[in-house]
Amino acid sequence: MNILILGSGGREHALAWKIAASPLTDKLYCAPGNAGIAQEAECISVDINDHAAVTAFAKEKKIDLVVVGPEAPLCAGIVDDLEAAGVKAFGPTKWAARLEGSKGFTKDLCKANNIPTAAYQRFKGAGTAKEYVRRKGAPIVVKADGLAAGKGVVVAETVQEAEAAIDMLFGGGLGTPAWEIVIEDCLVGEEASFFALCDGETAIPLIAAQDHKRAFDGDKGPNTGGMGAYSPAPVMTAAMSTRVMDDIVRPTVRALAKAGAPYKGVLFAGLMITEQGPQLIEYNVRFGDPECQVLMLRLMSDLVPALVAARDGQLKNFGLRWYPDAALTVVMATNGYPGSYGKGSLIEGLDQAAQVEGVEIFHAGTKTDGKKILANGGRVLNVCARGKTVREAQARAYAAVDRIQWPDGFCRRDIGWQAVERET
Ligand SMILES: Nc1ncnc2c1ncn2[C@@H]1O[C@H](COP(=O)(O)OP(=O)(O)O)[C@@H](O)[C@H]1O
Ligand SMILES: [Mg+2]
Repeated sequence: MNILILGSGGREHALAWKIAASPLTDKLYCAPGNAGIAQEAECISVDINDHAAVTAFAKEKKIDLVVVGPEAPLCAGIVDDLEAAGVKAFGPTKWAARLEGSKGFTKDLCKANNIPTAAYQRFKGAGTAKEYVRRKGAPIVVKADGLAAGKGVVVAETVQEAEAAIDMLFGGGLGTPAWEIVIEDCLVGEEASFFALCDGETAIPLIAAQDHKRAFDGDKGPNTGGMGAYSPAPVMTAAMSTRVMDDIVRPTVRALAKAGAPYKGVLFAGLMITEQGPQLIEYNVRFGDPECQVLMLRLMSDLVPALVAARDGQLKNFGLRWYPDAALTVVMATNGYPGSYGKGSLIEGLDQAAQVEGVEIFHAGTKTDGKKILANGGRVLNVCARGKTVREAQARAYAAVDRIQWPDGFCRRDIGWQAVERET
């Protein structure tokens, strides 16, 4: 098969690594890719927001499957456009991608189908939103309805903070003013990322992971795209996974099929495991980044037939095997991230780092300059490792981190601490 991956982050490098290892893969392309992905695929400079250009490339190179990494092109309907042109693509259609593209849409779907999620209301104006917040009290959660690259949610500890968040979102604090917001009750518990593969009708569970969103050790500092992740997630026992599939994922897939927007692709449920059981925080319509990296390290089966089966509506009798080992990834980011940061600093020692047992290094934001590897983004490297336990995977990942010379970068030193604590 000729396969084209869209995206340029650590998630796409992990997908490229796994897809390149498949005996089904003849030729692998990635648009636009990065310096690490270039070791697995031919990187091409096609703009993934230009659907016509992607389609033309896919037709010219006789691509058998396009695998879409990030949410923006999915929500913009790239799968619809590729499929309409006769190119097979893995991922949800524009209508189905509303699960991530509109938090209000998802909340309404949950309510209509008795899917456990925090009580909420949708608002189009600041006045009624503030009235609601004053009536409900704090803590309370204020969310922009649309895609916000992780910057659209404020967990407000006080009513004043919630009111400020409402003004910020409607006042254009994210660039463009929010046209709608969702306000919901604050859930208490432990978060987990749960993944399922869907073919429009059938959903099969993948595995769960947990990530660290805050920039600094001890889960302190500003929110980021994710500073690390590990799997398995101790809170996601087999019984909990069954419950999430039965109470959350399958009712969602059924509801979307019934609404004429069948869901195909990876469904990523952001969960809060509360005393009352799992509650849906949000859906994402693609693999998580950096969760995908640990999922790919734990996946024993070939990924390609799974992606094809999801695209073709053939998951009914499909199963995937996983290594029992744990996997963990440490994100290395440029100093200053998630605020402003420079680009172009030199990274050395990657080959020595990759020699640590069980280690795999995925690139999230790099470019080459001759033989040199240069930082080219906020999140730059994912130093990943497998181990018998999370503790062993953690020790291996940090042993590799310590072999990397990159004065302009930083990472957290405590990724996986909750799981390690439970193992001890
Ligand atoms: N109802 C809630 N109760 C408690 N925490 C929440 C709630 N909703 C969101 N959060 C916190 O805010 C984070 C971001 O919210 P989420 O809905 O996942 O938005 P996004 O990932 O699009 O920024 C979550 O990972 C969680 O930590
Ligand atoms: Mg989220």
